[in-house]
Amino acid sequence: MLWVRVLALVALCLNLTVALSTVNRNRARLESSQVLPHRNGWKFVGHADKADTTTLVLALKQRNTEELTQNFWRVSDPRSSQYGKFLSLEEVTELVQPHPQHVKDVLKWLQHYDISSCNHVSTRDFLKCRVTVGAAEQLLETKFGYFQHTVEKDYVIIRATQEYTVPSEIARKLDFIGGLHRLPNVGNKFKIKQQMPAPKDLSNFRYGVHPDTLRKRYNVTDNVATNPNTTQATAQFLKQYYSPADLKEFMNHFGKGFPHLSEISHEVGPNSGKTGLEANLDVQYIMSLGANISTTFWSTGGLHEGQEPFLEWMLDLSNTSVIPSIFSVSYGDHERTLSTEYMRRINLEFQKIGIRGVSVLFASGDDGAGCHRFEDESYTFEPDFPASSPFVTTVGGTMFTGLFTDANEKGNDISGGGFSNVFSMPKYQEETVTGYLNSSVKLPDSKYYNSSNRAYPDVSAMSDDFWIIINRLLMNVAGTSAATPTVAGMIALANDARLNAGKSVLGFLNPFIYQNPDIFFDVTLGDPSQACWLNDLDGYSVSEGWDPVTGFGTPDYHRLVAAAMKCS
Ligand SMILES: *[C@@H]1O[C@H](CO)[C@@H](O)[C@H](O)[C@H]1NC(C)=O
Ligand SMILES: *[C@@H]1O[C@H](CO)[C@@H](O)[C@H](O)[C@H]1NC(C)=O
Ligand SMILES: *[C@@H]1O[C@H](CO)[C@@H](O)[C@H](O)[C@H]1NC(C)=O
Ligand SMILES: *[C@@H]1O[C@H](CO)[C@@H](O)[C@H](O)[C@H]1NC(C)=O
Ligand SMILES: *[C@@H]1O[C@H](CO)[C@@H](O)[C@H](O)[C@H]1NC(C)=O
Ligand SMILES: *[C@@H]1O[C@H](CO)[C@@H](O)[C@H](O)[C@H]1NC(C)=O
Repeated sequence: MLWVRVLALVALCLNLTVALSTVNRNRARLESSQVLPHRNGWKFVGHADKADTTTLVLALKQRNTEELTQNFWRVSDPRSSQYGKFLSLEEVTELVQPHPQHVKDVLKWLQHYDISSCNHVSTRDFLKCRVTVGAAEQLLETKFGYFQHTVEKDYVIIRATQEYTVPSEIARKLDFIGGLHRLPNVGNKFKIKQQMPAPKDLSNFRYGVHPDTLRKRYNVTDNVATNPNTTQATAQFLKQYYSPADLKEFMNHFGKGFPHLSEISHEVGPNSGKTGLEANLDVQYIMSLGANISTTFWSTGGLHEGQEPFLEWMLDLSNTSVIPSIFSVSYGDHERTLSTEYMRRINLEFQKIGIRGVSVLFASGDDGAGCHRFEDESYTFEPDFPASSPFVTTVGGTMFTGLFTDANEKGNDISGGGFSNVFSMPKYQEETVTGYLNSSVKLPDSKYYNSSNRAYPDVSAMSDDFWIIINRLLMNVAGTSAATPTVAGMIALANDARLNAGKSVLGFLNPFIYQNPDIFFDVTLGDPSQACWLNDLDGYSVSEGWDPVTGFGTPDYHRLVAAAMKCS
């Protein structure tokens, strides 16, 4: 028995990069590089029982994707006459739904293997099926195994242990199949620095970041939302639940200086189980900056066998007609571990959300430029996705130059940033980023990154020494996960001002951001971001104007709202 496992593990470590080509008997691969499960923290523990069930998500090829992209740019660009003319879910469905004959053909193929328990989403471009392992193995000519998380041992999921193929005529109708190769990212990305019972009086708390620090620093002061239609949300994956009691206690301690809500208005998905740091941080800070705003806690936390929580969220959004106008998300994977086909489709999903007027903000990651070591000991930077997507707004991190909250602000050297290896540079940032590359700033050796591609982050905010309440204790945490809800809450306030004036919400933010670089406090101090410290290789330098550590810098509420009000 033992040798079987050892062999299996060796096989799993192989990163099967194969050219997209037909294989035997007219079968084809959907994803050109299928990275088999190898993520740290997950361990193969045995072959899956054929009678066991798992979930597959079939991403059906959409129609009119070029038109989708063109429309997406038009409604997001303040200089376009179509700015803010967002589409409803029904209109998105009209535009992108797959050809009905393709849907029929795929269903017929599934039925041939007795797979009939499938649901589609409103936009009809995803099909989610409950299948037995035995049927899925035949359908996709692959094998399945159980994978257990090495720390959270109650997490056992089913994944394919080999590459998968589909008949060639089906391959033309699908982008990828979910539930096979991507393993969820479990665990907290950010550092816990201190934990203690909350002191009674926090009014003169000069150490660490809390809501008043941010409100003062970014000129939000006592401004709060007043329009009942303003909305915001945080998205959580994998058993990250917030505690309503901690949220109340946090607001008791830290919410005295501004009117606010102390309860989440809507919960989507499960919110029961262990309280998560990430979830508590997100709700406590988005509701402190985006104060007095109806907030949604959107979770795809349940981990059923086969589920891909991030993909679940994408499906949910395509299956819900009214969704919040802003999502703050702290989630990411190395681009290297994802197939291009998967990322391209996720980018189309971001466009489907953006065209509906939703701003999506992602944390840029906490490893600076990142570092990947190849087997031959050579190394390179490691960009993350979705941070590197041209279709989201990516938030990096800053911190105080000194111990106290009246100190200056500098780039946080952990702030994720750099250049995609997959997506070319979008127009909205061309001038800005070539300006940085052309400047006299010290650049890393060009062999480590792809300077003609999408550069990130776009903006930043404080990301160190944040006080949160968790399990009634005061805890100090750090990471770009803290910066993201901070910026998201401020964008929500700008949306509120626009709604009060009868204007649309801002939607996808980047064209607006790159057309208004002066709405940010430029962050010009700080060490270069981290990269391969073992090899003495630094990441990127902080500079005047935009840079791949702090983006344009941190938002100034007054100038942000003034610029937002100028857009039609
Ligand atoms: C989408 O929503 C409909 C109606 O609520 C539901 O029947 C269907 O199962 C959902 N689809 C998925 C993939 O969850
Ligand atoms: C805005 O914030 C900056 C820096 O925190 C501060 O110098 C300035 O006085 C503030 N402006 C207003 C109008 O509050
Ligand atoms: C909070 O928002 C509501 C609308 O949702 C509004 O009626 C109320 O005046 C706001 N509170 C403050 C203090 O502005
Ligand atoms: C909120 O939205 C509804 C529906 O679009 C609209 O009728 C109403 O006037 C809005 N309320 C405010 C205060 O803008
Ligand atoms: C840089 O980007 C190009 C085009 O997007 C791609 O072909 C190339 O592989 C990338 N380089 C690296 C080092 O990933
Ligand atoms: C950057 O340099 C290139 C080549 O020297 C030049 O063509 C381009 O106009 C410059 N761009 C900016 C924004 O300075």
